[in-house]
Amino acid sequence: MKNISVGISGIGSYVPDRVLTNYNLAQMVETNNEWIVERTGIEQRRIADTNQTASDLATQAAIKALEDANTTPEEIDLIIVATATPDHTFPSTASLVQAKLNATKAAAFDMSVGCTGFVYGIATGANFISSGMYKKVLVIGSEVLSKIVNWEDRNTCVLFGDGAGAVVLEACEDGYGILSCELGSDGKEGNVLIVPAGGSKLPASEDTVKDKLHSIQMEGREVFKFAVRIMEKASLVAIEKANLELEDLDFLVPHQANIRIIDSALKKLKLSRDKACINLNKYGNMSSASIPVALDEAVKDGRVRKGDNLVLVAFGAGLTWGSLVIKWNKEGMDD
Ligand code: UT7
Repeated sequence: MKNISVGISGIGSYVPDRVLTNYNLAQMVETNNEWIVERTGIEQRRIADTNQTASDLATQAAIKALEDANTTPEEIDLIIVATATPDHTFPSTASLVQAKLNATKAAAFDMSVGCTGFVYGIATGANFISSGMYKKVLVIGSEVLSKIVNWEDRNTCVLFGDGAGAVVLEACEDGYGILSCELGSDGKEGNVLIVPAGGSKLPASEDTVKDKLHSIQMEGREVFKFAVRIMEKASLVAIEKANLELEDLDFLVPHQANIRIIDSALKKLKLSRDKACINLNKYGNMSSASIPVALDEAVKDGRVRKGDNLVLVAFGAGLTWGSLVIKWNKEGMDD
């Protein structure tokens, strides 16, 4: 980001109360706790109530982020919601959040970038501020994946969970905030992670419902190989663009899909596990919400301090990827 320095002035997250453990899942499909923990690192996940939507979770997270930033909803210029589980095809979930917050002057739109959405959202929101167009942008990752999971497919249903994380972006002290960004997409590989029906290609019909084409379909091994390669590559490019060396890194905030993918990235970046914000054991893969929830926890428990260099890195449907280097610009909880 070239012009005005942009940083995170407030952060918050929300996860639903209901816990679904691996043991619960073993009652539902042919699986077991050992397999899930060993192959993914996930122990449990949160599941939204039937009447809870992506905009509800997003609003809860946003309220906390606004409070942390000492900002009122009326001061927000733009709301970006990254989600793969919008309340509706339209209106956007961001517009619904705008109404729920009563953020009267905010523009609002959604981003459809799968699990990479929050990183794309920050990059987009930051540009509105660095260009001088807006002063305060709310970026939210919110997912109710439990509603688009095929609960009979053990290949996917054990992986995902519901939650939301939000940040307020504002101008910050020079030299701090977002130092670099790398975004990418390889649309040719889109079929390996897809919800086939419900859009203009396969509108909802009795057959699409019967064939469970409104649920997540994934070629796990293909996504895994892509993830391992791209997490390292995207992180290294962003670090180089920020004019930093590997030794300058303090924390990795990775997308939380599989502990083996995170471990592989850590090894390549020469970081130990305690230098990564990891919470997939508790929440599973919350897609666009996984990075902001993990970052919020690390900030709130005092691990992240002012001046720390963080790499946020994600991959997801598209296929897409994105990474950001952020020099943390807020005082830490213990500072
Ligand atoms: O956010 C982006 C979206 N997703 C991802 O990033 C996911 C990326 N991929 C992965 O994390 C891994 O590929 C998975 C966790 C999805 C699967 O792990 P894997 O080590 O690649 O397992 P696999 O698909 O190669 O399956 C190995 C075996 C198979 O049995 P056979 O064919 O060897 O007899 C599966 O049928 O494990 C079986 N299996 C299960 N067994 C018990 C698959 N799912 C389960 C399950 N419980 N839930």
